[in-house]
Amino acid sequence: MSKLPKEPPAGEITPPALYLRRREFIKSAALFAGTASGIGGGLVWLTGGAANLSASSGSRTPGDATPPGSAPPPPAAGSSSSGANAGGRFVTDEARTSYEDIVSYNNFYELGLSKSEPAKNAGRLRLRPWAVACEGEIKKPAVIDLDTLLQWFPLEERVYRMRCVEAWSMVIPWLGFPLAALLRRLEPTSRARYVQFTTLLDREQLPGQQSDVLDWPYVEGLRIDEAMHPLTMLAVGLYGKSLLGQNGAPIRLVVPWKYGFKGCKSIVSIKLTERQPRTTWNRAAPDEYGFYANVNPAVDHPRWSQATERRIGELRRRPTLPFNGYAEEVAGLYSGLDLRESF
Ligand code: MTE
Repeated sequence: MSKLPKEPPAGEITPPALYLRRREFIKSAALFAGTASGIGGGLVWLTGGAANLSASSGSRTPGDATPPGSAPPPPAAGSSSSGANAGGRFVTDEARTSYEDIVSYNNFYELGLSKSEPAKNAGRLRLRPWAVACEGEIKKPAVIDLDTLLQWFPLEERVYRMRCVEAWSMVIPWLGFPLAALLRRLEPTSRARYVQFTTLLDREQLPGQQSDVLDWPYVEGLRIDEAMHPLTMLAVGLYGKSLLGQNGAPIRLVVPWKYGFKGCKSIVSIKLTERQPRTTWNRAAPDEYGFYANVNPAVDHPRWSQATERRIGELRRRPTLPFNGYAEEVAGLYSGLDLRESF
């Protein structure tokens, strides 16, 4: 049994080099609070093309900014989002974490370093119009409006465990579609080996980016076979409602067998690459946060144990499962790989 603490003392995944700057960050974040108008900052690269807003955004037009703090209505209308449609391996029967906990206990450093700040600051994030630039090693590069994406792919509910690298976990009923469906449509070239995901870069909407606590924008990545795996999804909602800003609205990555930090939030770019992307946490502390980040109770974080986890809403700790309980589905992706070295 590991002698390491069960979870990080401060409940933060902050790498050691960042501890000292944290105080300064909190001070400056407090300063920014209240200064943002939430209007006019602009999505820096957005090119319009918001042609299909009516299906899932009611009467919004591309010029309408979503009022700060409000999410568009559920994107579910006309889709297969009713719930247990996916079934089987896509739906764990473990008790679901409460909606209140899922939307109030968050990691989203661009909206604040504590667990409660993201919910308080989420109103700054303008959720429409929104587009995702699909680029790199694909035959059909395009900047795709979010509502177009929502029309392309029927939404499914997937009830997944989420295990944070900080040793807490939740069970979340996501609403979304398989990433593979989008990638197939983009037609990867033969050179595409990885997929890189990037969060919106906008210092007004995401005030945490005014500090250098991490290198912005937040970048994550997957090998292409991981990205194409049927469990990997792009989520646009949870509990049948549109995602809120603190959970990575309007679209975020969900990879249930990996630590939660792989789940890049508020995505504006999906880029297929030949080389392994340089990901944010891996760059900040390569000894602590690997590129693979597969949930693995046998490999401790250098500063705490990964053997057990605290399920939010429960009192007793529970054992952490290899690949977060999805080993049967995904262990084969890593045959021949030393999971201690490629952690
Ligand atoms: N994405 C961005 N852009 N910024 C972040 O700080 N935090 C990650 C991940 N995605 C993070 C992010 C971490 S550490 C976790 S555990 C999950 O988001 C938390 O997702 P949740 O707040 O929806 O539970």
